[in-house]
Amino acid sequence: MSRLKIAIQKKGRLNESSLSILRECGIEIPNGAGKLIAESSNFPIDILFLRDDDIPQYVHQKVADLGIVGENVLIESRKKVSMLKKLGIAKCRLSLAIPKDIPYEGIRFFQDKTIATSYPQLLQSYLDRQAIRAQIEEISGSVEIVPGLGLAAGICDIVSSGSTLFSNGLKEVELVMKSEAVLIGSEHLEGEKALLLQQLLFRIDAVLSSKGKKYILLNAPNDKIDAIVRILPGMKSPTILPLAAKGWSSLHSVIDEDQFWEHIDELKKAGAEGILVVPIEKMIQ
Ligand code: PRP
Ligand code: ZN
Repeated sequence: MSRLKIAIQKKGRLNESSLSILRECGIEIPNGAGKLIAESSNFPIDILFLRDDDIPQYVHQKVADLGIVGENVLIESRKKVSMLKKLGIAKCRLSLAIPKDIPYEGIRFFQDKTIATSYPQLLQSYLDRQAIRAQIEEISGSVEIVPGLGLAAGICDIVSSGSTLFSNGLKEVELVMKSEAVLIGSEHLEGEKALLLQQLLFRIDAVLSSKGKKYILLNAPNDKIDAIVRILPGMKSPTILPLAAKGWSSLHSVIDEDQFWEHIDELKKAGAEGILVVPIEKMIQ
């Protein structure tokens, strides 16, 4: 029986979210700090822990069948691996940042200056689009310390919560691209591995579809059901069950969480009672 090999980030923002989406897919992964490889006990998949920047290369060389990386890392690598799915997790931005006390009046600031980054390709094409000529200094890590050392006027790096910039006295001044985690894979998987990938993708879809969705249950007098169904656009064909109390029913449906908060007052006014909103773990479309 073959086993899939998936490469994820060893340490950093993406490590935890990659592990948690795999675990939400029902894949058990042993906790082993510092290990380079972990074998799932209940799904034929091995997890390889690597530096994220190396993952596209490993997938390209078929050392790993799959990988989870930031879209920015995938584009920067320019490797011919497929993006199989956007995962909607680890959302972040690739941004330009400068020391917080330096005045900034626009992108012309960077003309003829030096910018440090781990993403020279992405930065260069952004600067070309902006018609800015600057010196790009490629650095593989801890880019945020460079301006403080006087080695560059600014940096181009990933910003998520912003705390790394903040603690290094930097401010974000331009957005270069938005990014999120993506599942990548080698172009062709064969036989059993292709089948396993289908199973994994099926599970990922089920996990992603349930995100932002809630299961709603409410009670309503029978003559108010139509009005209530009209208020919640997602509630196309709710399940309607009679209650023991005569003339009353219970309505069940799946809705977007945002939608619920927008319409809660209207629902109550229309006669809904005993409203329950519960989480959905998986959703098969
Ligand atoms: C990025 C970036 C910062 C951090 C920013 O690193 O280089 O170190 O995330 O996040 P924050 O805004 O929440 O502080 P990443 O996780 O991509 O790891 P790597 O650069 O070491 O690959
Ligand atoms: Zn990295």
